[in-house]
Parts: sequence; structure tokens; C-alpha cells
Amino acid sequence: MSRRAEIVISLFDRTGNMVAPWAAAGYHCYCVDLQHPVGETRHGNITFVGADVREWLPPFAAVKILFAFPPCTDVAASGARWFRDKGIGSLIRALQLFEASVRLAEWTRAPYLIENPVSTVATYWRKPDHIFDPCDFGGYLMPAGDAYTKRTCLWTGNGFVMPPPKRIAPTEGSRMHRLAPTTERANLRSATPKGFAQAVFEANHHNELAFSA
Ligand SMILES: C[S@@+](CC[C@H](N)C(=O)[O-])C[C@H]1O[C@@H](n2cnc3c(N)ncnc32)[C@H](O)[C@@H]1O
Repeated sequence: MSRRAEIVISLFDRTGNMVAPWAAAGYHCYCVDLQHPVGETRHGNITFVGADVREWLPPFAAVKILFAFPPCTDVAASGARWFRDKGIGSLIRALQLFEASVRLAEWTRAPYLIENPVSTVATYWRKPDHIFDPCDFGGYLMPAGDAYTKRTCLWTGNGFVMPPPKRIAPTEGSRMHRLAPTTERANLRSATPKGFAQAVFEANHHNELAFSA
């Protein structure tokens, strides 16, 4: 059972990797993603919510921290050459999902991070606050893991503390590019690295800078 008054919110989160350390520490966590069964399904301290983030309202509770991983396929710089074919509508929809993340994050007044790959959001909105590779935080895992590179940007706010790196050698290189083109490929590619999740927990769970005003 959760034993903390504050909740943790993770938007566009299918795996729950990001909230796992918070759930283990007793926080009730909400992971919202269209791929979850419609409605709410509770597993221990994690409630998986099958809903569209644009229509979801958080429960009435103080928020400890918020994470968001909006889909990036239509804003990633790596796919820029497809923008013309996909049309401006897909670009608008992708930015709307990013904007929904910013709106909910600011509304909670809690520390937050919004994650995206190197993307055109940096041009349309503002430059990211941090950039990392999963291997930068591989040393937080026991045994060490996430020995791969995948350039990842973070937009952060409300007192979010970026953890210090514990870098390991990226012996797997850019393993994400080598994944077979299966239907699960997108999910595998976008799964939150567990070392990074652990690092963020360690840097922020004692952080009492969350707004009280
Ligand atoms: C880039 S992936 C992030 C995955 C995440 N890092 C994890 O570990 O599960 C984006 C996710 O957004 C979800 N998604 C796309 N549109 C959505 C929407 N309108 N509302 C809620 N989830 C959505 C997808 O199902 C996908 O799982």
C-alpha cells in the first residue's frame, strides 16, 4: 500500500520504468498511456491509466514529481526528412501532445521533466535544459546496465534536480538502431532506461523544493 501523501505522475508511460523506484519507496504513481487497458488498473503502488493525456485530469492530490514522454516520431530531428510527406497535421498533433505535457507539468507546480529525442521542439519552443545518453547513468544499476547511446533531451522545471552521471562505457553502441523492425520496435526503442530512472529518484526524492505557495 502507498504510504505517502504525495503522488507521482508519469505521462505517455507504458512501461512504468520511470516510476518503479518511487513506487518501491511508497509513492502512489499514475502512468497514463493509450496502450494501457481503458480505465484504471492498479498493480501495487502503480495505477496504469488507459486514457488520452489530452483528456485526463490528475487525481486531487499534491504531486511530488511529474514525468512526460510525449511521442516523438513526428518531431524528431532524425525523421525531419519525412515532415513534408507526413503533412503539417501530424506536426501539429505531435506539438499538441508536447504542449499537453507542459500544461499539466506547470499546473501541478511539482518538479518535472519532459523527455524527447533531439527534436524540432528545440526550434519551436526552447532549447532543452539537459541532454544525456542512457549509458551516462548505467552505473546506478546493480549490476551496471544501459550500456548504449541514444541522445535524449530533457526540458525541466519547478526545481527538478538533474542527477550527477555515473557513466559506463557504451559497449552496446547505439543498440536501438540495430533492433529488428517488428511491431514492438517502437516500444523497445522508447522504453525509459532504468539507470536514468534510478538516478532521477536518488536526486529528487529528498528534494523538498516543490512549490508550497
Ligand atoms: C515515446 S513513447 C514513451 C514510452 C515511455 N518512455 C515508456 O517507458 O513507456 C510514447 C508513448 O505515448 C503513448 N501515447 C501516444 N499518444 C498518446 C495520447 N494521446 N495519450 C496517451 N498516451 C499516448 C504511446 O502509446 C507510447 O507508449
